[in-house]
Formats: sequence, C-alpha cells, structure tokens
Amino acid sequence: MTFLPCSSGVFRRTNLPPMEIQLVLTVIFVVVSATVAADYVRPLPRKALQFPWDLKPASYPQQVHISLAGDKHMRVTWITDDDSSPSIVEYGTIPGRYDNLAEGESNSYSYLLYSSGKIHHTVIGPLEDNTVYFYRCGGEGPEFQLKTPPAQLPITFAVAGDLGQTGWTKSTLDHIGQCKYDVHLLPGDLSYADYIQHRWDTFGKLVEPLASTRPWMVTQGNHEKESIPLIKDGFESYNARWKMPFEESGSSSNLYYSFEVAGAHFIMLGSYADYDKYSDQYRWLKMDLSKVDRKRTPWLIVLFHVPWYNSNKAHQGEGSDMMEVMEPLLYAANVDLVLAGHVHAYERSKRVHNGRSDPCGAVHITIGDGGNREGLASRYINPQPEWSAFREASFGHGELKIVNSTHAFWSWHRNDDDEPVKSDDIWITSLVNSGCVEQKRHELRNLHMIP
Ligand SMILES: [Fe+2]
Repeated sequence: MTFLPCSSGVFRRTNLPPMEIQLVLTVIFVVVSATVAADYVRPLPRKALQFPWDLKPASYPQQVHISLAGDKHMRVTWITDDDSSPSIVEYGTIPGRYDNLAEGESNSYSYLLYSSGKIHHTVIGPLEDNTVYFYRCGGEGPEFQLKTPPAQLPITFAVAGDLGQTGWTKSTLDHIGQCKYDVHLLPGDLSYADYIQHRWDTFGKLVEPLASTRPWMVTQGNHEKESIPLIKDGFESYNARWKMPFEESGSSSNLYYSFEVAGAHFIMLGSYADYDKYSDQYRWLKMDLSKVDRKRTPWLIVLFHVPWYNSNKAHQGEGSDMMEVMEPLLYAANVDLVLAGHVHAYERSKRVHNGRSDPCGAVHITIGDGGNREGLASRYINPQPEWSAFREASFGHGELKIVNSTHAFWSWHRNDDDEPVKSDDIWITSLVNSGCVEQKRHELRNLHMIP
C-alpha cells in the first residue's frame, strides 16, 4: 500500500538556455551537497505579519471559520461590526443558490478598553458527507464554500499547533493549503493575542481562507488564557470566538470535548482546566471513554496542549501532573495517538506508557512548531530518551491519513526554506485488533470504566 503525501515538492519552469542550466544545476548540486553534509540551519523567528486596514461595510462577515458540530452538522462562526446583522447562514450545493437557511446565536465580549464585534455561531445541517456546500453569512457579503468530511475511512487531517501570526505561520498555512485534507486539528495556542485583543481579529482574518473551507477543531493553550486576577477569568476571548462542540459531546466546558468523524473518535482535553480525580474534566473523560465504540470508530486519538512525553529542555516536566492523573485512563482505553503542542519543535515517541516504551501505549507527537513569534526550542536533553523516536526543532506541519480501521500514515513536513519537505513519517497500526484490548480488561475494571 502506498500513500504519497500532498506536500512532496515543488518544481518551477525556467527560461534559461542549456549551458546556463548546467551551470545552475552544478551550483545547486554543490550547495545541496554542502547542506546535506552540514546540519540543517534552523531559521530565526520571522516578524509579525502586517494586516492592512480594510474598509468594509459594518455588516460584512469577517473571520469566518467552521467546525464540526455533531453528526452531519457544522458550526459556522463569523464576526460583524454591525450589531443588527442577523446570525443566519444560507447554504446549498449549487453556487449562488441557497436552498437552506439556518439561524443561530451570537455573543460579544469586552476586555478592558476593547469591545468585540458581534460573534455569530450558526449550526447548519444535516449535511451530506464528502460534499461541497456554498454558503453566505448574515444574508450578504461573499460566498464561501466548504467540504464536509467523508462518512467513512479514508480521511486525512492537517495538524499544526502554536500558530501565531508571523511570516512562518503564513508559510505553514500555505503548505497546509497545498494539501488535500478533510479536517484541521490544532492542539492549542492559536493567535498569540496575549491580552492584545485586536490580534484575535487579525488571526481570524489570517486563517479565514483555510478555516472557512475545512473544519478547524482546536483546543486551548496557555496563550489563550488571558486572565487578570480579580478582573478577568481565563479564556473569555477564546471561548467567545472558538466555540467547539462541547455541548454536543456532553461536556460542560468549551475547554474539553470530543467528536467523531469517519472512523475516528477524538478527545480534546484542557491542559489548563482542572484535571484532578475530582474534577469535572476527569469525570467527563471517563464517561466519554466509556462511550467509545471501537467497532464504529476503530481509531481513538487525543489532543491537548502541554506534552506528556517531551525530551526538549523547553517546558520540561510541565505535563507531568496531568499525565499522572490521566494517562492510566488513556492507556486502559487503548488510545492510539496523542497530539500535543506547547514546545516549539517536533518530537515523535514510540508507543509509550508510564515513562517507558510499551507496545500497548499511545504514540505521542509534539507538534508546537506552527511558526509563532517566540521562535524554535532547539535544546534537547541528551542522550535521547529510549522512548523518543524522532525529534527536530523546525517549523512545520503534520498530516495524518487514516487509511482503514488498522493503518494510518503520519508524516511531518518541515518548512525548509519555504518549501514543505517531508522529514519524518511512519505507519501507525491501531490498537483495536491487537492483544492489548484483552490484556487491559482488568485495568478498565479497576478504573471503573467497565462493569
Ligand atoms: Fe503553549
């Protein structure tokens, strides 16, 4: 079985005569040879992007993004400066012809001197699977189009965490835009607004071309917190702008939820929500894991922000407390893959559990290298721990193609001089048909996850 990643290389036409082509090829060969011989030189952080002032009518829909909202439904989110703009979405499968209309809700928030626009959230559906829909927000403005995910495997996910809004962010998003994928997964740290609220708006504009066409499923990072003691609880802006399907998945908080798509059950956990054994998140996680039907969703994948397995010197040990409490649950439930961010580098583990490689544990991937302004975390603990399979401090993105109920292909693509270069890949086999399931029945009983 072969699968070619969509970001495999770029070729350009030239008008050079043959002699010059030979000279250029020779120079390229020498440079490439030297580059391969030496270590890859990691680039410096790039500057924040500049967003020109655009004068649009107050009712013009801005920052449009979509997310999965229960079976065959999608939530459309957008912002208007006009308070009277309706929260309606017109949609259909033919451009310019909207046979369906849905009305949603809206909210807004104030943060010190900043007042947000009107934030609209409208759920549309039921939608056909694997189908392109054309839609319009608020009864005016441009037509957008989205594609719903397939009902069954195969399905492809793009993954990028710790995005921010710099030149490297743009590079990462451009590479993802070249990729054929169904859903974007983001394990925390979106805008790097860090209390400067208009940065949420510029981030919304930056990601709109991608986030209005494919669902973005996100979880929170530390840069979303923005709390001020005695004045502001955390995550107010994040929760208002990036509403995820927590109600649809029986959660009481936007900071942790689950969703199913094709043959995969995803659990999005909150590294910055309470997670101790008496917390609502822990109770909800146990309940959600016990509802997973591996016949319907043979793949079980978890995302959160702070990695549990990290051999980078940055953020060392920060995920240990959460891991101590929650890893037994994920292990007993046979989670296949964990995706985290926070550390601005890439690392992939072997299957691990309790600090050691374990054939019945999850593969952990840290992918906090989307391109934010803080730059790369390039200092590692040496020697490389036994459980760590691959690590590299470069900006980039990941692609996960779940091919069938047992096999998935993971690849990581470095932003190498602005071209996506595949630097790591691996076939992952689901635990669903492994001996691990039977082996762990007593652990499930001990944790009261089965009778
Ligand atoms: Fe972070």
